[in-house]
Amino acid sequence: MKILLLGSGGRESALAWKMKQSPLCEALYIAPGNAGTAQYGQNVAMGINDFEAIKTFCLEQQIDTLFPGSEDPLVNGVYDFFKNDAALKHITIVGPSRAGAQLEGSKDFAKEFMQRHQIPTAAYATFDATNFEEGLAYLEQHSTPVVLKADGLAAGKGVVITSDTEEAKQVFTDMIKGNQFGSAGARVVIEQFLTGIELSVFAFTDGTNFVILPEAKDYKRIGEGDTGLNTGGMGAISPVPFARDEFMSKVMDRVVKPTVEGLAKEEIIYQGFIFFGLINVDGEPYVIEYNCRMGDPETEVVMPRLENDLLEMIQHLGDRSLDQVQVQHSAKAACTVMLVAGGYPEDYAKGDAISGIEKVSNSIVFHAGTKQDGEQVLTNGGRVLAVTSYGDTILDALAQSYESLQQISFNNQNYRKDIGYEFK
Ligand code: AMP
Ligand code: GLY
Repeated sequence: MKILLLGSGGRESALAWKMKQSPLCEALYIAPGNAGTAQYGQNVAMGINDFEAIKTFCLEQQIDTLFPGSEDPLVNGVYDFFKNDAALKHITIVGPSRAGAQLEGSKDFAKEFMQRHQIPTAAYATFDATNFEEGLAYLEQHSTPVVLKADGLAAGKGVVITSDTEEAKQVFTDMIKGNQFGSAGARVVIEQFLTGIELSVFAFTDGTNFVILPEAKDYKRIGEGDTGLNTGGMGAISPVPFARDEFMSKVMDRVVKPTVEGLAKEEIIYQGFIFFGLINVDGEPYVIEYNCRMGDPETEVVMPRLENDLLEMIQHLGDRSLDQVQVQHSAKAACTVMLVAGGYPEDYAKGDAISGIEKVSNSIVFHAGTKQDGEQVLTNGGRVLAVTSYGDTILDALAQSYESLQQISFNNQNYRKDIGYEFK
């Protein structure tokens, strides 16, 4: 297979690491990639939303598989762009059509979809400029805390949770009238707050059949004990201790199957990953969000625990024969701890020299925000490196990552010291 992977984060590093191990891998390109992805394939300087450049490259290199790592190109319709072009339509796209990507691209679409298919999720209502006053009245009588979500993609920043009704009304006003989040905030979903522990479940579907990958839990807040600002993710563990058979069979019956069947019934083309952001409320799963791609940093623990050949799975996706695949999970636990630039997720420096990566021998270091400068690797983003380890237990894996990351240093580095804390 000749694969073009789009992206430049830790997720794409872990995907490239996994695909490179397959005997089916004839060529692997990563656009634009980072200093680490160059170990597994060839980086190509190209934007992930530059469909014309991607087309030219695919034709020149006879790419047969396009794998968008992040939601952006999918929500922008890269699938449809390829399938509507006679020269490109034979290429397998690992990801849904633009319509399918709306599960992530529009919170309101996702909520309506869940209602249509009786998939458990928080009670909600959607408002825009046309029923703005009703939205304010709705907030007046809503219990607190209340959750406000900008409808469109807002780079993980479009969700506000508050216990103060006046603040909720202000946020709501800013989103709709003040153009906060631009067009993404023109519609707002107001949602009931659910209390429980979150986890991420991943299905890989060909549109009819699906398989479930190892589940994971990520740690989104910058501060220990899940405090402070939201980030792209500060670490992850897999497996998730409470995701035992009874809970997971509820997830399958009430969430995963109705989602895949609902997409098929509505004739929404969907081949690729479905990321279910779930919350466990007293043993019952509810959907907090859908994503149309793998999670980051979850991929940095899911791919290490997946024993199947990912490219073989992608072939089955292309052939719509995922019913022939049985997913094998490693019996080992995996965890990842993110090294981030000081100041992240607010202002932070880029271009600082990183040392010591090569000294790490008992963990896998997946590059996220890095770039190569001659012989030197420099920081190039807020989340810099994901240090992933295996262990017989989550605690063993965590201990290994915390030991390994001592070898690595760059100016002002930061990380959470309590990944996996609930399970200690
Ligand atoms: P989202 O962008 O939809 O994943 O929301 C970001 C984060 O907000 C989630 O990971 C949850 O931690 C939190 N969140 C979203 N919706 C709810 C809800 N209905 N109840 C409680 N927490 C929520
Ligand atoms: N880790 C959450 C996400 O990828 O959206």
